[in-house]
Parts: sequence; structure tokens; C-alpha cells
Amino acid sequence: MTDGRPLLPPDSSVPVIGVLISGRGSNLQAIIGSIAAGHLAARIGVVISNRPDAGGLGLARDAGIATEVIEHGRFQSRPAFEAALVARLAEAGVVLICLAGFMRILSPYFLERAPGPVLNVHPSLLPAFAGIDAQGQALTHGVKVAGATVHLVTPELDAGPIVAQAAVSVLADDTPASLSARILVQEHRLYPEAIASVLAGGWHLEGRRFVVG
Ligand code: GRF
Repeated sequence: MTDGRPLLPPDSSVPVIGVLISGRGSNLQAIIGSIAAGHLAARIGVVISNRPDAGGLGLARDAGIATEVIEHGRFQSRPAFEAALVARLAEAGVVLICLAGFMRILSPYFLERAPGPVLNVHPSLLPAFAGIDAQGQALTHGVKVAGATVHLVTPELDAGPIVAQAAVSVLADDTPASLSARILVQEHRLYPEAIASVLAGGWHLEGRRFVVG
């Protein structure tokens, strides 16, 4: 996956990342903001959405970032859809792929061909509450602490090595909306930081543990 060196493209001092979205794109906006503020040394080469109506596409365009709509429904098969994703990411020269509310499961076909590691942000303290409606699952279960996880993507859903986590308290009167909003604040801080640490290199995997140094 990496030999420990920084993830740099051969012709640039700033690594190029690709962001895959399906919706509003608040995490994409956090990444854009972190780059603009000088906290994340990277360039977004392309934002790809599988939905033409994703709000995040407008955020990317407003920031002058190349966008692409690759609708899964227009492809005969999952590998054909994923091959199109891989081709566009490779064309943009990305060395890291960041899922930011991308609502398609990526198969081993994609993961074996992607031009770099794949990261995801998930609104729970994994391994608790994988899958959809993680915040609702947390409330139903009655946990007192919830949070956000950034992890490397592997074929098993929301189960890859954990890069970073942040916790939030669950309040007695929380609703899925109020808990989601509190977790989202942490996602927006955590995801750019985790992207920076993956891009910096100097990490390796020990079993399923993400180890820096
Ligand atoms: C976030 O809660 C993220 O954790 C989950 O999908 C949501 C995406 O939100 N994977 P946004 O599109 O980044 O606003």
C-alpha cells in the first residue's frame, strides 16, 4: 500500500487527491477550506459524484476544482462503473482517494486498481455502528459516547484500519439530527488532519493497526 515515503506524484511538490461524493459535500468543503488555510498541503485534482444532483459538485466548481459525474446507473456492471472511476482518478494524477459521503460500496475490483490508498470518514466510533444511519443506530443502542472515524477502505464495509477518531458526548435529548450535527463538527476537523497524516507517509500497517513511525 505504501513503502513509508510521502505520497507524492513524480512531477509535483504537492500531492493530488481525488474526492468522491454523493451528496451535500460538507466534508469536501472542510477539505477545501483546510487546503485554502494552508493546513493541508494538497491539491484536489478532481471531485467525482455518482449523482448529478450532489450539492458538493457546486462547492467544488465554486472553488475552481474539476468535477465529473459518473452515474453508476448508466453502467452495465459494477466493474464497468468502477473502471470509469479509476480511469478519471488516474487521469487527474491522484495519489490518494478520499470518500466524503460517497454512497456506493467499492469492490475489490476498484481497490486493486485505484491509483492510491482510499480513505473514508464514517459518523461513528468504529467498529460500532457500521453501515447506514450510524447516528440513529447509536441512539437506539443507548451509547453515551459517539463520534467519527477516518479509516482506510478495504473490501469489508467500514472495517479497514483506523487512521483517526474523535468522540462526542450523547446528550439525553439528542435526536439523530442533533447528534449528527455534533459529530459532523468533529468530522470536519478530523478528516483533513487524517488526510495530511496519510499523505505525509512514514506509516505502515501492523495487522489491521495504522502505525505512524
Ligand atoms: C458524513 O456524515 C460522513 O461521515 C458520511 O456521510 C456524511 C457525508 O456528509 N460518510 P457530507 O456530504 O460530507 O456533508
